[in-house]
Amino acid sequence: MSYVLGVDTSTTATKALLVDTAGTVVAAGVAEYPFETPQPLWAEQDPRLWWNGTVRAIAACLESAGVAGAAVEAVGLTGQMHGLVLLDTAGEPVRPAILWNDQRTGAECDQLRAAVGTERLIAVTGNDALTGFTASKLLWVRNHEPDSLAAARHMLLPKDYVRYRLTGAAATDKAGGSGTQMFDLAARDWSSEIVAAIGVDAGLLPATYEGPAVTGTVSSGAAAVTGLAVGTPVVAGGGDQAANAVGTGAIDAGDMALSLGTSGVVFAATTRPTVEPAGRVHAFCHALPDRWHMMGVMLSAAGSLRWLRDTIAPGVGFDELSREAAGVAPGADGLLFLPYLTGERTPHPDPLARGAFIGLTVRHERAHLVRAVMEGVAYGLRDGYRLMIAAGVPPAQTMRGSGGGVKSDLWRQVVADVLGVTLGTVATEEGAAFGAAVLAAVGAGWRASVGEVVADWVEETGRVEPSGESYERGYALYREQYPLLRSTFARLGQ
Ligand code: XUL
Repeated sequence: MSYVLGVDTSTTATKALLVDTAGTVVAAGVAEYPFETPQPLWAEQDPRLWWNGTVRAIAACLESAGVAGAAVEAVGLTGQMHGLVLLDTAGEPVRPAILWNDQRTGAECDQLRAAVGTERLIAVTGNDALTGFTASKLLWVRNHEPDSLAAARHMLLPKDYVRYRLTGAAATDKAGGSGTQMFDLAARDWSSEIVAAIGVDAGLLPATYEGPAVTGTVSSGAAAVTGLAVGTPVVAGGGDQAANAVGTGAIDAGDMALSLGTSGVVFAATTRPTVEPAGRVHAFCHALPDRWHMMGVMLSAAGSLRWLRDTIAPGVGFDELSREAAGVAPGADGLLFLPYLTGERTPHPDPLARGAFIGLTVRHERAHLVRAVMEGVAYGLRDGYRLMIAAGVPPAQTMRGSGGGVKSDLWRQVVADVLGVTLGTVATEEGAAFGAAVLAAVGAGWRASVGEVVADWVEETGRVEPSGESYERGYALYREQYPLLRSTFARLGQ
């Protein structure tokens, strides 16, 4: 038998999926690790955790399947996007990686806008400056730790550090590259204009490849610790959202995906770069050639429900909470939830935005809070969807859903009703790692295109149609709240 491996370097764990030629997931391996918040607004990780996690996850995966590493014909990489990894000439990290959810770079975003001009920045990169993206992190290091930057030889993204350790190659994929805010979105490569405006050495930047392209092969050192064969091809893969879209089948114009993980994402594949004029929804390259995508990213989606559960109902299962909430009528008896628990990106790029329950009375019980969280998150997803439609993405009939939140029957129905779309689900829960395996299958030469693999491997397992329930009044009230509360949030944050 022959296999491909998809490896996802996420923020909380490395996940490896072993997939056979029929697209069946034969085994999975997971290795968890923490991330650090050494100061308010900061989020960092030691890149060596990712390599250690990769070695452990691949070993667990091969062992549980009883498969020899030599049977793996290609590896596809995916992972958390935007993180800044700086390596010295010996390949050692010069400082901990600054992650996608780090919010320290507000001043550097202003500096970037001033250097390039906001309109020009959006026209070239597709996006307004954002604390989450890599460019402002690079500026922060230059402003605050010039010695770290002076010692750096390579700038990589998190999954590309894993690639570096696997193959020795400094390379990234087009989807990941476009998430650095140093890419020319239309040209699908580094923008010399933006790189010059930031004032960093272009020699730091890795070579860029389309998702299914081979970027290097497993070295003898990496083979010795992973069990993979020397010379196994490693394909570029893609940032986690683009790879997740591949893994759930959203690759052609009109295909949309929705993810209810810690963060919440509405994703639309496009056949040309499509940009929201104010840059409030992200516009990136997709993980396959000649495709781009737009996406709205809310930072706290299923993360909001996890917070609520851990805070008021520790140990209670999400199934039970979801069943209780299904007994409450839509609108949660006049209770509204704003899901900005970790600041927000779409549609309010505001690190100081805060969460809120609005309209609490003594009649509200735990079930109302849960229902209000599910509805508030669905409203936040609709905000992103609305902006994409306004930017020219055709409204969807169906979206492919993924992430832990879509396991709840109630939440799936609420999302379908609030967005007015049919929500389809697919077999694999690890969409990003599966998408990386799809890209590896093309790199291994099993099929000629990503579309052919997706047609063979990605299967819809269920559908939820809109029920006809209207949430229009709730959504209108929700949209009024952030502008009313913005200055309160900023003052509370101080
Ligand atoms: C996408 C994004 C997140 C991270 C975390 O823009 O920031 O998906 O990649 O996984």
